[in-house]
Amino acid sequence: MSISTSRIVSVDDLPGPKGWPLVGNLPQLTPSLLHRQFDDWCGEYGKMYRVRMAGQRIVVVSDPDLNREILRDRPGGFRRQSSIESVMDEMGSNGLFSLEGDAWRRRRKLAMPAFNATHLRGFQPTLETITARLHRRWERRSPADIRADLTRFTVDVTAKLTFDYDINTIEQSGDVIQRHLELIFPILNRRLATPFPYWRYVKLPDDRALDRALAALRQDLTAVITRARANLPERPSNFIEALLLAQDGRGEFTDDELFAEALTILIAGQDTTSNAMAWLLYHLAAKPDVQQRIREEIDEIPSVLDRQPYLEAVVAESMRLQPTTPLVGLEAIGDTTIDGVAIPAGTWVVVNVQHAGLQPENFSAPETFDPERWLREGPGNHRPDASIPFGSGPRFCPGRGLAMLEIKSVTGMVCRGFDISRTYGAEPPRDRFHFAVIPTGMRLDLTPRPAGAIRS
Ligand code: HEM
Repeated sequence: MSISTSRIVSVDDLPGPKGWPLVGNLPQLTPSLLHRQFDDWCGEYGKMYRVRMAGQRIVVVSDPDLNREILRDRPGGFRRQSSIESVMDEMGSNGLFSLEGDAWRRRRKLAMPAFNATHLRGFQPTLETITARLHRRWERRSPADIRADLTRFTVDVTAKLTFDYDINTIEQSGDVIQRHLELIFPILNRRLATPFPYWRYVKLPDDRALDRALAALRQDLTAVITRARANLPERPSNFIEALLLAQDGRGEFTDDELFAEALTILIAGQDTTSNAMAWLLYHLAAKPDVQQRIREEIDEIPSVLDRQPYLEAVVAESMRLQPTTPLVGLEAIGDTTIDGVAIPAGTWVVVNVQHAGLQPENFSAPETFDPERWLREGPGNHRPDASIPFGSGPRFCPGRGLAMLEIKSVTGMVCRGFDISRTYGAEPPRDRFHFAVIPTGMRLDLTPRPAGAIRS
């Protein structure tokens, strides 16, 4: 990619935080606060700056035009960081998220029908059932840990959609698959954030537990895959079937490839969505008027499959303020230039998708939670393309449609059934970067509303 300017400068000429010899900025970087550090430095050093991490140079970009240009230049110009592919590969989950080049192209083409609107429409009754379970759980008692409950919801939805397995972690605890998944995520996060792949030389107890969890998951999923192969319906009811149906004439997917895709969807689809819902409910909890407007809208337009403009504006506004994946980490495949800066092959390029959403030149009063801004026309700055929480370009998140249905379904259920407020005297949640940005210590109270009290 090249945005032409007359003068080409080197990465080392870019501004950036001063570091130490050899280790560079490594001592200043805390993995769980990476999003904040990269964002603060955007404020200090501008739309493009460099960071050094031991021998690795990282260029951080936050300008909305450059962000989209870079994200568009895939799979040819940029790839995801190569460490992602190797970590996913050794876990057997090298699928759509981490594949590159022609392998990614082929997989993306085959996988997209599984995410299309018709397939999601067929999935709507299941979504309703799982949402109703969450409602019942919260009617019995206000959630002690709302984020954990929302993760139960997304695990159940994703497992059902991916391989037609009704885990029902909302109403039961201790499901085997859930226990395996709970183990996989923290270790995956740790491996992605660890500069030295120690586990290839020494396995800690956690790493051995991960191997056991992956082996058990593979056994469960192989049974599902075998069943799907034996009884392939004309219309797919889950992601595995959709992949099997899509492959005709283009070579068979192996069981390993199907396992990798199922695990990818489970990994990519749940923490992202559950944390997006948690942040949204946190914003709503301070805005009874917004809760009431949502009630009025879903009273008029009850189906999440229809456009619900106000509710969708609430989602867009919440994700502008707190995108759950604020950093998209890439690597330059060959030598290239970005905005007149020569980027050598192998340089890490971090696209900061959060920063532009919080700048006054893109959104007036950017710190204010104001869903109306997505609906009104007129004075004030409003640049929708500066907020790209689902990424952009050919590797744009294919799960956006499903995530929107899940978020709308839960938000609608909460507003219809409860008054939601922030727990009196509780500290605000802390945001921590673990694959997604997670709110820790979020305390919300859900008070059941009388049945039918939509128009109060
Ligand atoms: C609020 C929820 C979600 C957010 C914020 C989110 C965000 C993202 C982002 C930022 C990317 C990278 C896009 C890029 O590189 O341009 C991505 C990729 C991806 N997401 Fe999501 N996502 C969400 C939900 C989901 C769900 C529900 C699924 C699956 C059911 C999913 C599956 C994927 C996959 C497979 C990719 C890789 C696509 C590729 O590289 O071709 N995501 N997502």
